[in-house]
Amino acid sequence: MIIVHTIDEVRQAVQAARKAGGRIGLVPTMGALHAGHGSLIEQSVAECDFTVVSIFVNPTQFGPTEDLDKYPRTLDADAAYCEQLGSDLIFAPSADEMYPAEQWTWVMTENITEGLCGANRPGHFRGVTTVCTKLFNIVQADIAYFGQKDAQQAAVIRRMVTDLNMPLEICVCPIVREDDGLAMSSRNRYLSADERKRALCLSQALTHCKEQVVAGKTESAALIAEMMAILEQQSAEIDYVSIVDPDTLEPVEQIAGPVLALVAVTIGKTRLIDNLLIGLNDN
Ligand code: PAF
Repeated sequence: MIIVHTIDEVRQAVQAARKAGGRIGLVPTMGALHAGHGSLIEQSVAECDFTVVSIFVNPTQFGPTEDLDKYPRTLDADAAYCEQLGSDLIFAPSADEMYPAEQWTWVMTENITEGLCGANRPGHFRGVTTVCTKLFNIVQADIAYFGQKDAQQAAVIRRMVTDLNMPLEICVCPIVREDDGLAMSSRNRYLSADERKRALCLSQALTHCKEQVVAGKTESAALIAEMMAILEQQSAEIDYVSIVDPDTLEPVEQIAGPVLALVAVTIGKTRLIDNLLIGLNDN
């Protein structure tokens, strides 16, 4: 495995792999890798001949009051993990390499970026879609892997790729959870032991919702109220609790098909998100 820091180097390495007939996989990350990222890398390694993991804490997707400076940067540990999983190349550019001049060109996806996480994080998805477009153009992978944990991000990226005819496939991989149900996240490391216990309320609220739908409840307002009660019992500060269409992310009032239930809360000082796909045939 090699680690490169410049766009020229990653392009050369990918070109060589492609000349050899290889299928190129890209796993875009901001580092601080955990088993959730690991599952994306493993899938790329299994399906592709050459796996690129990008590690870049993208400043344009953080708001002025968000945790850009505090965001964990653990390149050595990340590199060891990527190597262990069989990645071929890490692309770890500096902010100057990715944004050498003031960015005047932005990629924006409308309608599914304003609600949910977008409501409290103005500009966040503009930063994500722009950096992903840059990474797609730099690496020119055949397929890029994203986690279902960031459900809105995955839906936005899928829509962007479709709307702009970007020549790559997007694969969205299932959420990886700890044994007790907590969704893996780079931000879990900020939780104290007590907050870590309380954080189980996210997956518990979502599982409760699924059980209720399976039992025949279809009215989202009632289900949302029940999820909120579970979150509030643990003094989680609620950002949103929502039941939406899995593709358009439009709110669903009466459940008659597959839906996505989502929660976003702050516990202590840490913002956590989780979601669960609820199909008609769940039991
Ligand atoms: O999910 C992330 O880690 C980031 O939003 C991404 C996709 C790497 C873009 O910076």
